[in-house]
Amino acid sequence: MDNTPPPCMLQMVSRLVLILCMSALASASLKVGFYSSTCPSAETIVRNTVNKAVSDNPGVAAGLIRMHFHDCFVRGCDGSVLLASTPGNPIAERDHFVNNPSLRGFEVIEDAKTQIEAACPQTVSCADILAFAARDSVVKVGGTNYEVPSGRRDGRVSIGDEVIQHLPGPRSSADELVSNFSKKGLSADEMVTLSGAHSIGVSRCSSFSNRLYSFNHTFQQDPSMDASYAATLKATCPAPPPTSDPIVALDPSTPIRLDNKYYEGLMNHRGLLTSDQTLYTSHSTKVMVQNNAYNGATWAQKFALAMVRMGSIEVLTGSDGEIRTHCSFVN
Ligand code: HEM
Ligand SMILES: *[C@@H]1O[C@H](CO)[C@@H](O)[C@H](O)[C@H]1NC(C)=O
Ligand SMILES: *[C@@H]1O[C@H](CO)[C@@H](O)[C@H](O)[C@H]1NC(C)=O
Repeated sequence: MDNTPPPCMLQMVSRLVLILCMSALASASLKVGFYSSTCPSAETIVRNTVNKAVSDNPGVAAGLIRMHFHDCFVRGCDGSVLLASTPGNPIAERDHFVNNPSLRGFEVIEDAKTQIEAACPQTVSCADILAFAARDSVVKVGGTNYEVPSGRRDGRVSIGDEVIQHLPGPRSSADELVSNFSKKGLSADEMVTLSGAHSIGVSRCSSFSNRLYSFNHTFQQDPSMDASYAATLKATCPAPPPTSDPIVALDPSTPIRLDNKYYEGLMNHRGLLTSDQTLYTSHSTKVMVQNNAYNGATWAQKFALAMVRMGSIEVLTGSDGEIRTHCSFVN
């Protein structure tokens, strides 16, 4: 009897092996508990540091979650957003106007890094510390806990101009956002799910004041914004020419709790940024907003999964990059 499988079967088997190898490669790059033997206290140090900082100032949680997003979209999650500008590189990512002065929480990462370096020198990357800190922030303000695959290495390059080339702005349409996130391997549903981070934190008036005072270059209000909400915002945000740039809550209903009230706000035309409200106005994403508004538990699960996916964008692993000693400077 001939036991040789027919050629088509061989082909199927080798294809399966290929697919299995490829998925193994994709997930082999980062792994949960990467530091369990080399620095077992790393994640505890980050969690304790974040818990204390967020207890003192809940806004820090918003800052760290946003910082992880801004790190991952520009050169992957490589800690490039943490690097300080230098005489040779006068505008690093963190000093680009998108990030400076609004991005916050740097001192929490530095604090955790100092403690971790004392416990296990040159072992834990700044990119991983930021990913852990974002997760711990999510948990501290009421989100779902999740495990963070780690093993990221730190990049050596941070270029301010790249910020605006990769991070969508607050006036983006849903279609643009879908396109921008898909360039990073994230789906439309993941984009809508992650936008739920705007359930916490603040925005400066300059990020949305066009909706109050100069919608499409006239003196109209944005018709997709609830009129009484617009009136409330106008009481805080100065008319042009602006003399100052105050801040308001992104989600005034529950400003320091990461929950799905943000999506209810969108359904009530109370999204703050154009990029928020467009998710409900646009046909392609409206149902996703409704689903998240109606089912908070599912949204919270999806948010955790999407954070892990965002946290694996273009990561450096193995012997690429370095483990920085100070998060603000390359070695
Ligand atoms: C969908 C595209 C997005 C756009 C256009 C966008 C834009 C913005 C803008 C303009 C601000 C206010 C900045 C200021 O003027 O002070 C902001 C704040 C914030 N963003 Fe986003 N964002 C997006 C997605 C995300 C994602 C994916 C996350 C995290 C998963 C995130 C987390 C945050 C947080 C937490 C804040 C508040 C920060 C604080 O209070 O310090 N955003 N975002
Ligand atoms: C977002 O996508 C739109 C449409 O493809 C594109 O014009 C824009 O440059 C993108 N922005 C970023 C920051 O990637
Ligand atoms: C501005 O937008 C409003 C509402 O969408 C529209 O009715 C109006 O024609 C627009 N004006 C200009 C000058 O485009």
